Amino acid sequence: MERYAHITGWGMALPDRVVTNAELSRTVDTTDEWIVSRTGIRERRVADGHDTTASLAVSAARAALECADVSPRQIDLIIVATSTPEHLFPATACLVQDALGAINAGGFDLSAACTGFIYALGVAADAIRSGTQQNVLVIGSETLSRVVNWKDRGTCILFGDGAGAFVLQASTVPGGVLSSLMRSDGSGSHSLVIPAGGSRLPASFDTVRNNQHYIQMDGKEVYRFATRVMASAAREVVQDAGLTLDDIALVVPHQANRRIIESAARSLNLPEDRFVVNLDRYGNTSTASIPIAICEAVAAGRVRPNDLIVLVGFGAGLTWGAAVVQWNVTIRPEVSAWHRLNRRAVYRLSRVRSALRRGLRRVEGVVFGQQSPEGQEPPRRS
Ligand code: UT7
Repeated sequence: MERYAHITGWGMALPDRVVTNAELSRTVDTTDEWIVSRTGIRERRVADGHDTTASLAVSAARAALECADVSPRQIDLIIVATSTPEHLFPATACLVQDALGAINAGGFDLSAACTGFIYALGVAADAIRSGTQQNVLVIGSETLSRVVNWKDRGTCILFGDGAGAFVLQASTVPGGVLSSLMRSDGSGSHSLVIPAGGSRLPASFDTVRNNQHYIQMDGKEVYRFATRVMASAAREVVQDAGLTLDDIALVVPHQANRRIIESAARSLNLPEDRFVVNLDRYGNTSTASIPIAICEAVAAGRVRPNDLIVLVGFGAGLTWGAAVVQWNVTIRPEVSAWHRLNRRAVYRLSRVRSALRRGLRRVEGVVFGQQSPEGQEPPRRS
């Protein structure tokens, strides 16, 4: 029997702190008028000392699990799309897995910059359709405020922090993710980059002094690329799904710049009210922008059952991608014990479990001392 990958739960998380254009104009040479007219952005959210990419991801994931009425134990795979992982390794997805108590899940991070959520959605849907996974958590989470140079007016006005998550579940009911497209062009890798901190340019006194751990961007080049690919990707993915643009109820574009979205609307010959735009309040939250926009569209009643939605994005890499989704969420399994459980207790239990496992590792270390796991002494250095 054919399998389909349905979005059955969705959730979002935002830091509380709001940074307005007026506030930015006190620290860099810019104005509210310039930012609004060139980008459409009025304010963005910025993580405080407590929020991290993982903590925002966990909050969004919990909301999505609750919405889908799926317990963390039922999740087989967690994909965290992010450009601001907690570490080079381990994957942020593993930290999320531990915090959720998703003890049966594998997890990995996906790096495709702002297109990451669309890539992750495509990979998750393919894994579900192939039969290897049943329930997949797809998360886009960012703390871009930590990698933005707050003295660079060309970039610091654009970005914000936040997270969005989907639960994808297998079903034999037709619908869900109908088609997806992933593209890249590394010849444009220089136009949006954090140059240092990886293996090519490891952190050093010089890289810090030269601001090479911050986002560097050729805004005009990215702008031209974005206006080129948004409409063509949307068109292609709609065609792949056997549909026409007239069938599409809503387009959810990556929230980078209002002018880019308007240009895509013109190229596609679609009215602007068919596009979801919330960048005025959050700026560009990279991988989180599309799921956050969908959560808000659903909450505002803009998405009706069986609606066909196009998601389309672009970002560093250069990468771009799109997906067509049919929003038929009624496939949820009828019997789930999750809604009857005390979720707070479950999450507390996952923290206790994690602490116990850490403790056990420490005890193992003391008991086995210098011995390797096979019980043999490791080779001594001469
Ligand atoms: O997820 C992908 C992330 N990246 C993007 O989406 C970026 C795409 N690009 C853009 O959105 C636009 O190119 C920007 C918003 C970044 C810039 O808008 P623009 O209309 O392309 O402006 P520009 O770079 O051509 O700059 C025009 C002028 C320049 O001054 P001069 O050389 O004409 O005197 C800039 O120095 O505006 C100046 N400028 C600013 N002025 C006030 C640049 N940034 C600012 C600023 N406030 N924040």
